[in-house]
Amino acid sequence: MARIFVTRALPGDALGRLAAEHAVEVWPEADPPSPAALREHAAAADGLLAMLPDQIDAGLLAAAPRLRVVALLAVGYDNVDVAAATARRVLVTNTPGVLTETVADLTFALILAQARRLPEASAAVREGRWPAWRPAYLLGRDVHGATLGIVGLGAIGLAVARRGRGFGMRVLYTSRRPPAEAATALDLERLDLDDLLRQSDYVSLHVALTPATRGLIGARELALMKATAVLVNTARGAVVDQDALTQALTRGQIGGAALDVFAEEPLAPDDPLLTLGNVVVAPHVGSATVETRERMADLAVANLLAFFRSERPPACVNPEALA
Ligand code: DGY
Repeated sequence: MARIFVTRALPGDALGRLAAEHAVEVWPEADPPSPAALREHAAAADGLLAMLPDQIDAGLLAAAPRLRVVALLAVGYDNVDVAAATARRVLVTNTPGVLTETVADLTFALILAQARRLPEASAAVREGRWPAWRPAYLLGRDVHGATLGIVGLGAIGLAVARRGRGFGMRVLYTSRRPPAEAATALDLERLDLDDLLRQSDYVSLHVALTPATRGLIGARELALMKATAVLVNTARGAVVDQDALTQALTRGQIGGAALDVFAEEPLAPDDPLLTLGNVVVAPHVGSATVETRERMADLAVANLLAFFRSERPPACVNPEALA
């Protein structure tokens, strides 16, 4: 029986299955454990079930000599020092696949909300500011017929592309890998990043945060975008230089932004981005549906159960740690 520390209560019954086989301790608060509390609990654990705000760095790993597996409730694993984990033969697992369509839904919700000014429209009705019908009131931009540029055609990028095609959009993409069969079937056009930025009305980011993608969209890239274009980010905040984005929006260099992720989360309530009317924001809720969060919990627990049964977990980030 392994000792497993779970850094937050999870929806669904997955933790019950884990507790049936292992000694499970669940952090009792809704907010994450502090770094010191996380380190203290990790030091006594064989396994961790951790979330995005939990920083699993080399220091924590060094202070956790028993630790053999870190199961993340996320597809992204930029909060883990995977090289340090591998060096210590600590397996890292994640939850790919189960959240793809849900994050794509939120991406499209943000695109539509920004294009059709839904937050402003909703606030106007709620606050008693609904004037008599006027021909030029709350005019937005069409999404159908516009050009959608997808940066990173992984599973989520492809799911967004499919939605874009369903909306009658021209869809461009960049990808490190050769075009998938699906890209051809959907009639997507592969471009380099600069050309995609120049031609797109909506630029949607779907790359993992790595040293190569940190700050991928900075002042130079924003300057390439159309003056009416909208930047959409449901990937990771640090893929964008947020100061450069704020400046580009303030100067009217681009048309707007729709953001679910930020350089620092939670975003400070006095962040200048929040003073801009052409910015739609959400609090990192890309995968936040009942069904998907239960699927993520199921997969994170399946990863742990398999590991401690000496089976190969379904979603390993660094399978070389098993060797
Ligand atoms: C992930 O899984 O990486 C998401 O950002 C969490 O919603």
